[in-house]
Amino acid sequence: MANQIGTLYGIGVGPGDPELVPVKAMKILKRVHVVFAASSTKNQHSLAVNIARAYIPDETSIKLLSFPMTQNMEVKHKAWNQNARMVIEILEQGQDAAFITVGDSMTYSTFGYLLQSVQGLAPHITVKSIPGITSYQAAAARLNTPLVEGEQSMLVTSGCNGGNQLRQHTGNAETVVLLKAYRNVSDIVSAFEENDLAYDCVGISRCGQPGEEVLPDIKEIARRKPDYWTLIIAKQRNGHGMQSES
Ligand SMILES: C[S@@+](CC[C@H](N)C(=O)[O-])C[C@H]1O[C@@H](n2cnc3c(N)ncnc32)[C@H](O)[C@@H]1O
Repeated sequence: MANQIGTLYGIGVGPGDPELVPVKAMKILKRVHVVFAASSTKNQHSLAVNIARAYIPDETSIKLLSFPMTQNMEVKHKAWNQNARMVIEILEQGQDAAFITVGDSMTYSTFGYLLQSVQGLAPHITVKSIPGITSYQAAAARLNTPLVEGEQSMLVTSGCNGGNQLRQHTGNAETVVLLKAYRNVSDIVSAFEENDLAYDCVGISRCGQPGEEVLPDIKEIARRKPDYWTLIIAKQRNGHGMQSES
């Protein structure tokens, strides 16, 4: 008899504190045969694995997949399909697998790329996505600062290309969240300054993780050359001040 095909779970393990891993995710991690995660571009380390480590049984196989950080779409697609084939091979042996990712699995996550490739190459496979607490939800909680209230709007965008997204889209949103605010922070600062955007900004690095830092001065954020795990929350000055004590 042919093997039953396993299920792929895309799991968001939250921003860093293992106690913020969803109960549903914990239960799935205890019973899947294989756990996949993206490896760091620099070494064979995975923050998602560190966060979820306590919930992965010792006998479970952990496999790291590489997602190249390049603008070359051909290279990216090749790597995504290669990763998807490795996952599909496990599932077609009748084993269940989880792909774990920091924060939420549907928010700027490598799981999105894997999902797209698995669905393209093997549409018969069942995929279940388990949401996680995003980094910026955790940061807002850390600062005791509501993200949005009443009729307010929020822009969640990438700071990868500095202030470009900010220049294009900011204006009407009372709250702006910039993820990937690590490489071009000085241009993010310029974008806030050049448009005289009346926002209070707070940067958070490694929220809920060892080495967490809260930086209420956006210029100081730029001076520090923050690491990859950094985001900025900016709120329009409208009387609802940002709680920025560290
Ligand atoms: C590829 S995105 C992943 C987003 C993630 N899926 C989420 O739901 O928050 C990576 C960016 O998320 C942000 N990030 C993730 N975890 C973080 C943390 N613990 N503290 C601060 N920023 C974090 C950083 O801006 C980082 O550059």
